[in-house]
Amino acid sequence: ERALGIAVLGLGNVGSEVVRLLSAHADDFQARVGARLELRGIAVRNVNANRGVPVELLTDDAAALVARDDVDIVVEVVGGIEPVRTLILNALSSGKSVVTANKALLADYTGELAAVADAADLDLYFEAAVAGAIPVVRPLMQSLAGDRVDRVVGIVNGTTNFILSAMGDTGADYGETLAEASRLGYAEADPTADVEGYDAAAKAAILASIAFHTRVTASDVFREGITKITAEDLASAADLDCTIKLLAICERVTDDSGAERVSARVYPALVPLEHPLAAVNGAFNAVVVEAEAAGRLMFYGQGAGGSPTASAVLGDLVSAARNKVHGGKGPDESIYAKLPIMSIGET
Ligand code: HSE
Repeated sequence: ERALGIAVLGLGNVGSEVVRLLSAHADDFQARVGARLELRGIAVRNVNANRGVPVELLTDDAAALVARDDVDIVVEVVGGIEPVRTLILNALSSGKSVVTANKALLADYTGELAAVADAADLDLYFEAAVAGAIPVVRPLMQSLAGDRVDRVVGIVNGTTNFILSAMGDTGADYGETLAEASRLGYAEADPTADVEGYDAAAKAAILASIAFHTRVTASDVFREGITKITAEDLASAADLDCTIKLLAICERVTDDSGAERVSARVYPALVPLEHPLAAVNGAFNAVVVEAEAAGRLMFYGQGAGGSPTASAVLGDLVSAARNKVHGGKGPDESIYAKLPIMSIGET
């Protein structure tokens, strides 16, 4: 029986859910991939903390875990740039595929990571880096690869949307709402990244790069956070039949010389109540894509939190694993006969 070895780096909100679901649905993963996905180890900072996973899987030596011969795919859900960037480069150069949820890293190093992955003919997957559970990376990179995207506008940070929604609804206190977003597992370890727009800017850089087939890094994105927005601002917006949303806007623009450029910016914007993005509340995210032939598409769902983000990580993991086993094809047809059909009228 074929097996693939998985290493998970990080056991926070997302990592814990990845590990839990991987074990809870092990048979489904096996059927979908055509091989068992076996967890070889989980790299954490402190192996002594009680984490609800078998202690023998824990290690504080991420480099050694990544280097193991019996590891085929590395799942990175730690965040930050180093040591993760080096670990991912090492994984790719030793023949391992990588699934990452790391928006800060991808915003600045996609080019480098993709080049190493390409050179080694390996996969680098990052659906989870933008807007949690919402499939938006793959639609832009694959489904819309034959179209010409003009604009991507989204609410891509759950924490700030949660705060703005609560402040608008009930005039809730900013600090208390932020603490609640942290408690619910939406906010970054340092929530400055959320409220000052750095997290959204990293996602805007990734979206702009893949939508326009170019390289945009976080420092290319104009950025303003929500820390200056008050409940009074939200009330004034409501008087104008508008609301305030932290938007990430990426678009093709034409400069004065007539040349095409890419503009990417993140800032709190007045959104008319009839606009579909105005109805996106709480930790939900939504991304509107405008493309020449497709017209307007909208992607909506849970953009933050352990389980939704784990869903995207695991989808990428299945793709990476199928690629290892079947060279990109799914497993054979037999799996589709597994669940019997219920006829109308049967109970
Ligand atoms: N802190 C992020 C957010 C998590 O609030 O959207 C998802 O990337």
